[in-house]
Amino acid sequence: MNILAIESSCDETAVAIVQDGRTVLTDCISSQVELHRIYGGVVPEIASRKHIEAIYGLADCALREAGIERKDIDAVAVTYAPGLIGAVLVGVNFAKSTALALGKPLIPVHHIRGHIAANYIAFPELEPPFVCLVVSGGHTMIVDVRDYTDMEILGTTLDDAAGECFDKVARVLGMPYPGGAALDKAAASGDETKYVLPRPHPGQNPFDMSFSGLKTAALNLIHHAEQVGESLDVPSLCASFSGAVSDMLVPRVRLALEKTGRRRLAVAGGVAANSRIRRDITSMAKELGAEVYLPPLSLCGDNAAMIGAQAYYEYHSGNIAGMELNAYATKSILGETL
Ligand code: KG4
Ligand code: ZN
Repeated sequence: MNILAIESSCDETAVAIVQDGRTVLTDCISSQVELHRIYGGVVPEIASRKHIEAIYGLADCALREAGIERKDIDAVAVTYAPGLIGAVLVGVNFAKSTALALGKPLIPVHHIRGHIAANYIAFPELEPPFVCLVVSGGHTMIVDVRDYTDMEILGTTLDDAAGECFDKVARVLGMPYPGGAALDKAAASGDETKYVLPRPHPGQNPFDMSFSGLKTAALNLIHHAEQVGESLDVPSLCASFSGAVSDMLVPRVRLALEKTGRRRLAVAGGVAANSRIRRDITSMAKELGAEVYLPPLSLCGDNAAMIGAQAYYEYHSGNIAGMELNAYATKSILGETL
């Protein structure tokens, strides 16, 4: 089954063709990162306009690169939530008109379910059940993936997402947007014991996380150094910060593996590219004797291949939309409107 998949929820426009949920025939991506960089973050209005400009050309590119014709497309899939509403709408409208014109089913895919499914592309042998740590720019959660479309959220951030904090601290350190990768790189030569940052335990649920206090502590430390004219050891601060984020995530993921008894652990989302988190997750899983799945960096960030992968399983569980499909800025991974 060939699925034409569309992703436009933030600042990447992407169109992919994925066969039977696992084989990527092509994944054409147009990134807007350079455009938004001068503003220090994504400008929603600009993002929507650029998606409109890029999407038709990308769909043509996908068909050409895959070497298939329109008649060979069996279904059209699209990210319908969550994201910047104007940006998601561009993809949803394009997908609806394409499905209508081709006379093929339309499959709505939740963006975060897509991030999880990136692992099905990277690891053809991976099947649910498994625990998945989702860490992206907008979401941070630990999910028990019971089946391809049956999931339980074990814990989530109570405030900011991990990626948001990486980006904010990086911005204050003068790194270009999105600064997570630059902060990660700088951390490599730092001494993480030089600065002490908090590791709060929020709420009642042992799987829940909080990043806003950690972010504020790092920002205060930077501003204080500026105010008193103290020179900051940037690599060491980056190393301390990365260590604190990892310490928030990894013990909770460990607990999730222990409590659920799952033997497989996957990681998903842009922050899954972080070298410290990858290292700590790997050694924790090794200690528990669990199998760990870390997608390659190209599949951690936003792409349409992951949407095409999840769409295959959504289709087989009967999740097909009509032309009334709407776009949503927020929606739970379980499908509830927030
Ligand atoms: O999943 P994603 O591409 O977009 C969302 O759905 O949000 O995630 C983007 C986030 C950004 O915050 C970016 O700074 C972060 O992933 N990121 C990283 C690294 N690479 C990307 N954060 C920490 N370390 C990295 N190496
Ligand atoms: Zn994403």
